[in-house]
Amino acid sequence: MTRHFLRDDDLTASEQREVLDLALRLKAEPYLERPLTGPQTVAVFFDKTSTRTRVSFSVGIADLGGVPLVISSSDSQLGGKESVADTARVLERMVSAIVWRTFAQSGLEEMAAGTVVPVVNALSDDFHPCQLLADLLTVRERFGTLTDRSLAYVGDGANNMAHSYLLACATAGMHVRIGSPAAYQPRADIVEDARRIASEAGGSVLVTTDPKEAAADANVIATDTWVSMGQESEKAERVAVFGDYGVDDELMAVASSDAIFLHCLPAYRGYEVEATVIDGPSSVVWDEAENRLHAQKALLAWLLEKNAS
Ligand code: CP
Ligand code: NVA
Repeated sequence: MTRHFLRDDDLTASEQREVLDLALRLKAEPYLERPLTGPQTVAVFFDKTSTRTRVSFSVGIADLGGVPLVISSSDSQLGGKESVADTARVLERMVSAIVWRTFAQSGLEEMAAGTVVPVVNALSDDFHPCQLLADLLTVRERFGTLTDRSLAYVGDGANNMAHSYLLACATAGMHVRIGSPAAYQPRADIVEDARRIASEAGGSVLVTTDPKEAAADANVIATDTWVSMGQESEKAERVAVFGDYGVDDELMAVASSDAIFLHCLPAYRGYEVEATVIDGPSSVVWDEAENRLHAQKALLAWLLEKNAS
């Protein structure tokens, strides 16, 4: 069975460690792995806008010896004129992997079910698992280990980043806490999955409406935009609800004294984060952005090897 990466818990704890170990090796030696030598092609589809994901996959695929074929939804038949299933069957005859940023998670599931090449979620409405590999790599670089570290995500608890923090941090054996308004709490089934995974890995999960309870003594404070792609028409109501969930110096002060700040970017200063935090000494957001490249190269190399064996 082909291995895909559609959500964070598609990797077990030991597999997640293997990918992160390889990412660190590739960061030190960028051309260590060349599984796409040929060159083989990887299709990278975008139904939503992107800077980091587009660039990091393009550069990473080239570093691995391959050719990135970046396709915007407006230029392709996918989804509109042609079904996902038919697209999947055509693509597998020409490309070595499919990377897709889209809206519904079900589209990714359908693509994965219909093809023998690995499918990678480059962000959906529900998850952003490639971002979490980069985030965990950044935490590991700063603290050496992930197990037993605590991460507090404050803001929109119902979005893709919150869901991915829950699953990926639980897999890593971390203590993950979500602080979000009552109307924007994470999906119950994802919280349940995260609790089960955390209990096996030695971590824990806390979901609260109190941002300070989430942030107390945390090693990592993370946030994301209050208005995700596709939610632009809800901006006014969201800004009103999330007002108390911004990351500022006061919130950072309740975290551990050596806490780091993460944000997947793009960031909106004055909304979910103050400039004093994201541009201050605790912020590691530029390392985090760079780590997208190393983490995704490791993921692709790992998936290609798994699927070859
Ligand atoms: N963090 C992230 O995925 O950025 P882009 O939307 O620019 O790809
Ligand atoms: N939650 C954000 C993440 C952007 C990288 C969105 O989906 O727009």
